[in-house]
This record gives sequence, structure tokens and C-alpha cells, in this order.
Amino acid sequence: MNFTQNIENLNSWLQDFKGQKVFFLVDENTHEHCLPPLLGSLPNLLEYEILEVEPGEETKSLEIAANLWLSLAELGAERSDVIINVGGGVVTDLGGFIASTYKRGIPFINVPTSLLAMVDAAHGGKTGIDLAGAKNLVGTFVNSELCYLEGAFLETLPKAHLKSGFAELLKHGLIADRLHWEEACRSYPEISGEMIERSASIKMKIVESDPFEKGARKLLNFGHTVGHAIESFLLDKGLPILHGEAVAVGMLIEANLSVRFTQLGQEDFEEISQRLDAIYPRLPLLKQNVDGILKWLKFDKKNTNGELQLSLLRNIGEGVYNISLSEKEVKSAILNYIKQS
Ligand code: GLY
Repeated sequence: MNFTQNIENLNSWLQDFKGQKVFFLVDENTHEHCLPPLLGSLPNLLEYEILEVEPGEETKSLEIAANLWLSLAELGAERSDVIINVGGGVVTDLGGFIASTYKRGIPFINVPTSLLAMVDAAHGGKTGIDLAGAKNLVGTFVNSELCYLEGAFLETLPKAHLKSGFAELLKHGLIADRLHWEEACRSYPEISGEMIERSASIKMKIVESDPFEKGARKLLNFGHTVGHAIESFLLDKGLPILHGEAVAVGMLIEANLSVRFTQLGQEDFEEISQRLDAIYPRLPLLKQNVDGILKWLKFDKKNTNGELQLSLLRNIGEGVYNISLSEKEVKSAILNYIKQS
């Protein structure tokens, strides 16, 4: 594991650092709210450069990546220097991507500032940018040197964003650790540093067993096949929702499929739906939206031979992957969700 909640580990990494320059990549928000306290706790760091991007998914573009590569070159960045990404998933994905490609790769450190990035995006080595409307179409698998988790940054986040990240934290319990799921549900809306670290550890354990997503890492896609399709469908209609809200609905629909196809018990299914319903409002989807959602499902990178590939649950705390289902089967679970909403 390369993450820590102890700032001394970041301080000592920087003390041992043999390069010349430290570059911080921030967005406007993290520049204002997170960088000053972070710099305040790195007293030995006297010289650094700051690269700022605008917040938002549009920033994960080839154009911005090219601007950042050029800025690094103009500022004389060498292969031995380091980039410290301070932000949510957009900054850690983009910063990891430019670091892993600039001069064929320079080291980077992630300091995630959103719950989603703390428990998911900033770990596991996936970096990337979006292209032609497709999320993470171009990217690399490269691990950060270190990931520093600072729970206090969550105080700067709107409640809706916390709730969104919480869906990924719950997912880690559902696929791999029942106790984590139960504790997270009981304590919500309180989210402790310990819980964040446990969630990140669950993900990292899975990633370490399968860094390039050939097998077990697919478990992390639970809730995402249907969730992504709903997220893209609504975005396309000009009704964007947060990623975690879509994942929560995706998990509910895929838990329903798990009852039918992977023997998830009815009792576990009811617990999942009650818990998710208590946190996430049902989306006002209509029967006539289903074909539109299915169109997005067909774009899923994981499809093979016309079948949809899903990760489902066998129990709360035990996921299964490589489950092939037809479009018709998934359609009926989406219709069930709509009927009950
Ligand atoms: N966010 C899922 C993964 O890193 O594989």
C-alpha cells in the first residue's frame, strides 16, 4: 500500500527526494482551500511551482494535457522531478496521466481532496483523459509514489459530493467486506478517517491482486455498468447527475440482477435497497427512457460478443465478475427499478 494519513510520511518522502523541482497541480478550488494548509504542513519545502487548471470533467482533455506538458517543459521539468496532484479525481487522473507520459514518465504523488478520489480515483494506478466524449479513452496504468489522505479536506466539500463519494465507499463493502458495509451504513453521514482508509485498503488489495484488470479488479465495476449508462444518458439529455448518484442506482439495479443470476439472497437484496434508498433519492426515470439507456450500455468497454459483462454480488461482502447477460435481462432489471420508483 502506498497511502498514508500521516503527513510525516510525505515530509520524509520529500526530504529523501533527489530531484530538483516540485510541481503542484491544482484546480482553482484546491488552490484556494487545500494547497495553503498542505504547504503549511510541509515546512521544509521552500521551492515549488504551481500549475492550475479549471475544475470540472472538461479539464481532462488532450488540449489541457498538452498545455501542461508544455508548461513543464518551459519550467525545465526533468525526469527526476515530481508532480504533486492536489484535487479530486479530475486532477489525480489528469496529473497522473501527464506525469506518466512527460519525458516517458516522472514520479507523481496524489493528495486527493474529494471523498471519491480518496477511496477510489487516487489509488490503483489508472490515469487518463477523455477524448471525443468517451471518458478515460486515453490513459496509462502507473502508480503514484505516495498517496496522502487528509480527511480535513472533506470539510471544504459540498454535501452532495460527499454523498457521491460515499457510494464508492459502500461499493467496497458490498464486493469484499460485509463489516465495512454495515459500519459505513450505520455511521452515515459521519465518515471517519479510519473508514476512508479501510475503503482505500479494500480497493488496493484487489488492485494488487490484478493491477491490469484481467480478473479480480473487475469486481470494482459493480454498479458501474448500469450506473455509467444512466449517467451518460442523463448527461446527454442535459440532466447531469453526480457519478456516485449514478453508481448508487447502478448498484441497486445490479443487486436485483444478482438475485436472479448469482444467488444473492432476498434478505441481502432488501438490506441493500433499504440502505441505498435511505441515502440516495430514486431517479425519476421513465419507461420510455429505457431504450435510450440501453444504447449507452452497448458502448460499454467491457462488452464481448454482443453480451454485456457485469460484476455482481453473491452475498453482501462477496462480489463475482465475468457474468455475461443479454440486453433483455438487464432491460428487465432497469424496468423493475422504474416500476418501484
Ligand atoms: N475505479 C475502478 C478501478 O480503479 O479499477
